[in-house]
Amino acid sequence: MLKRSVAKPLAHSEEPAKQHAAPKAAPLLLAEEAEEIEALGPWFHNLHLPDGVQTNPAHELGDFPAFKWRQIADFVPADLQGWRALDIGCNAGFYTFELAKRGADVVAIDLNPHYLQQAKWAAQRFALMHKIEFRQMQVYDLAHVDEQFDLVLFMGVFYHLRYPLLGLDIVAQKVRRLLIFQTLLMDGDGIFEQTTGRTLAERAVLSAPGWPKLAFLEHDFASDPTNWWAANRAGAAALLRSSGLYIETQPEREIFICRPNELQRASTQTWNRAELLAATGQPWQGEVDELFGEA
Ligand SMILES: C[S@@+](CC[C@H](N)C(=O)[O-])C[C@H]1O[C@@H](n2cnc3c(N)ncnc32)[C@H](O)[C@@H]1O
Repeated sequence: MLKRSVAKPLAHSEEPAKQHAAPKAAPLLLAEEAEEIEALGPWFHNLHLPDGVQTNPAHELGDFPAFKWRQIADFVPADLQGWRALDIGCNAGFYTFELAKRGADVVAIDLNPHYLQQAKWAAQRFALMHKIEFRQMQVYDLAHVDEQFDLVLFMGVFYHLRYPLLGLDIVAQKVRRLLIFQTLLMDGDGIFEQTTGRTLAERAVLSAPGWPKLAFLEHDFASDPTNWWAANRAGAAALLRSSGLYIETQPEREIFICRPNELQRASTQTWNRAELLAATGQPWQGEVDELFGEA
């Protein structure tokens, strides 16, 4: 079984968020609003707009991602005043708006202009534009952003990356306090405990159900060619740890609440830093010279 920590949900121990003065959204007639929603579709996020209108009430997953937010909401401080947050793969901005409503200043990134357009439109409906900076960016571009964030949401994106560990290594270095990570998992919750000290002759253990794994999805899995990987639960946990994160708890099997591991730095910050620098187009020779001496 995956070890769970005794971390308490933060929201229970903190004051409720204060109301933040915000510019008002321009009023829209319901018919106009419905037309705009239609024109901006299709919607992956079912946003509940301030007037009660929803952007995709017939979502095939149910009221998505409201039901997912309920699984993590208690692990996010109720008052995020003064926090800088990063929402990676923000889509139409459901989580971005929840963080901004709690007072965070949010940088919301997505590569897809269609979703960013939805999110910008919705931010106006919520009168939250002043709290949010939308950027059209890839996860990998974060390697060139000279900033850390108190809270990072990395939900529903990892398995879409063709270079997943590169993405995770980059993201891990942006986390100052808290990371909420969600990814597609394969079945099975087994954890193979002894993964260190194995020899070449023991390769059979790699096939054990609880050995950390990533299944490669060569063809379109669930009709989506951008689904590249499904980890097992042990694999997702191992990848997070290897990227320098400490897993505090899991409110649900695909969701990991993490903090930077202050006791054990990631290899990407120590002996293997040169590889991450090279993979992100940054000068790396100095690191290698330091490790092995100059050529
Ligand atoms: C499955 S949706 C998840 C949306 C939201 N984070 C959630 O959990 O509901 C994946 C989102 O990530 C975006 N995305 C995919 N690959 C990305 C990348 N390399 N960099 C930034 N965004 C990416 C997609 O455009 C899409 O909006």
